[in-house]
Amino acid sequence: MVQFNLPKNSKILKGKYFKDKTGSKNIKKINIYRWDPDKNENPKIDTFEVDLAKCGNKVLDILNKIKNEIDPSLTYRRSCAHGVCGSCAMNVDGVNTLSCMKSHKDINGDINIYPLPHLKVVKDLVADLSTLYRQYESIEPWLKNKEKKSNITEINQSKENRKKLDGLYECIMCACCSTSCPSYWWNGEKYLGPAVLLQAYRWIIDSRDEEKKERLKIVADKLKLYRCHTIMNCTNSCPKGLNPAKAISSIKKMLATN
Ligand code: SF4
Ligand code: SF4
Ligand code: FES
Repeated sequence: MVQFNLPKNSKILKGKYFKDKTGSKNIKKINIYRWDPDKNENPKIDTFEVDLAKCGNKVLDILNKIKNEIDPSLTYRRSCAHGVCGSCAMNVDGVNTLSCMKSHKDINGDINIYPLPHLKVVKDLVADLSTLYRQYESIEPWLKNKEKKSNITEINQSKENRKKLDGLYECIMCACCSTSCPSYWWNGEKYLGPAVLLQAYRWIIDSRDEEKKERLKIVADKLKLYRCHTIMNCTNSCPKGLNPAKAISSIKKMLATN
């Protein structure tokens, strides 16, 4: 029988245990993925006992508390702490989400925190998003207006056309959707994935943009677009409540009818 084994250095080992020193009765165990590229060691899961009596409600508050009070080497991205920048996306309790929006009160038992799945890890909870950003750049996410009207005067948009951008402009490129998508896991270099395709649709549908046809041409590709098999993981994981699967099917429909 064929036996598949993971490479030795990819196995996740048990890491350090940081015991609570406060004596608090409100302790939660937090298990966090750790990997340091500067150490020639396997990834590990460190466990921290955290006093929730003196901690904000969000998972990001727990991470900040660990970094400030227990282990300053813990590495993760964050900036706005209000669900706006998208930088704190990670896998919490098995779900891709924004740690600054996720309440730890909703989680029973230990809290398990990993980087976004199926990406290279830069360090600890920081996943490598360079491929996704290159793909984002490839759809040219800026207004294109051949006559450069925007340099002369304001470009008006009717209320109806502006409404078409609702559910699209709110995307913060956190990558929770793309890293939940099985098609993106296996074809991430070629398939653009739900985050980038939602952004592509946002510009295709913008009435002020004059390059709709060229934009459709950029994505009309069996690998870039048609690797979406409508599994819907993307929509279920979006922390902003957006629907990338619907945006993708709208692009497919436009291509079929144009
Ligand atoms: S669609 Fe949602 S999950 Fe995907 S990148 Fe945008 S905000 Fe994040
Ligand atoms: S609907 Fe498409 S983009 Fe969304 S998870 Fe499924 S395959 Fe991926
Ligand atoms: S820190 Fe900006 S979205 Fe979470």
